[in-house]
Amino acid sequence: MKDFLAIASLGAEDFEMLLALAAEFKADPHREPNLLRGAVVVLYFAKPSTRTRFSFESAIRRLGGSAVAVGPDELQLSRGETIEDTARTLSHFASAAVLRTPSDEELSRFANAATIPVVNALTDGHHPCQALADFLTLRERFGSLRGRRLAYVGDGANNVARSLVEASAFAGLALTIGSPAGHQPPADVVKAADALARTNGGSITITDDAAQAVAEADAVYTDTWMSMGIDESAREQRMRVFRPYQVSERLLSRATPGAIFMHCLPAHRGDEVTAEVLDGPRSVIFEQVENRGHTEQAVLMALLEHRLRGGK
Ligand code: CP
Ligand code: NVA
Repeated sequence: MKDFLAIASLGAEDFEMLLALAAEFKADPHREPNLLRGAVVVLYFAKPSTRTRFSFESAIRRLGGSAVAVGPDELQLSRGETIEDTARTLSHFASAAVLRTPSDEELSRFANAATIPVVNALTDGHHPCQALADFLTLRERFGSLRGRRLAYVGDGANNVARSLVEASAFAGLALTIGSPAGHQPPADVVKAADALARTNGGSITITDDAAQAVAEADAVYTDTWMSMGIDESAREQRMRVFRPYQVSERLLSRATPGAIFMHCLPAHRGDEVTAEVLDGPRSVIFEQVENRGHTEQAVLMALLEHRLRGGK
């Protein structure tokens, strides 16, 4: 495992290993205080971030390293230096790079040119760090996820939905995405994930009916209807199309009585979720937030332990 760019590229074994390691870090966040001693990790954010930025800073410091955060205007990249030359240069001074950039293609180019591990801190296509924290949260609530039902309603074509689809394929749960036509995950991604899920007792189902998606779910997840990078001119139309997918008490009443509510945050009360649900007793949003730090410690350790301790 050189990089962490998407959940699907991990494989089921590494997915399990990362969740187990994250649980160990949760039990003792300071169990590896010297792993990154003397090491620098670059954090590059070309889009805003609250959780990812601070959870990585905290994870890096708990492992004994230093985080150097830069924005797009601070690098020569902004003046036309190539992605490849940037990646090769940073590889000389940093032990890993954590990148939030819109384009998956550019992230791959950076990772291919870099000799250090690269972590996807959110692209338009994927948000693997979020899905890892979400599955730690689900595991803590339910133990084994076999036979459990996860519903995701709203924008099924975004990065968070894609990474949840890929993680569900490994976890053996039944994921149902409830999204309007035109806003569903790509059919080839769903087909591959569903085939994999079925080998371990799970499934991936797509519907345009929010109530059907949520029926008997153990967990109901949603995300913004206006992901970063979507043009403001699309707002009115998107609000109209997604309105029937708002997670309200009424929609949630179709889930199991003990169902939890999940959201990657930032949330928009009154749009994709009502304030009553988001701030209500079923909401586990701040468990998801906390788990970002523990899972990111696990990711950094898995990517760097061998390099830093093994002499390469
Ligand atoms: N959930 C998440 O990644 O939040 P940020 O955009 O604040 O990092
Ligand atoms: N889908 C959202 C996730 C934010 C963490 C976005 O891309 O803006």
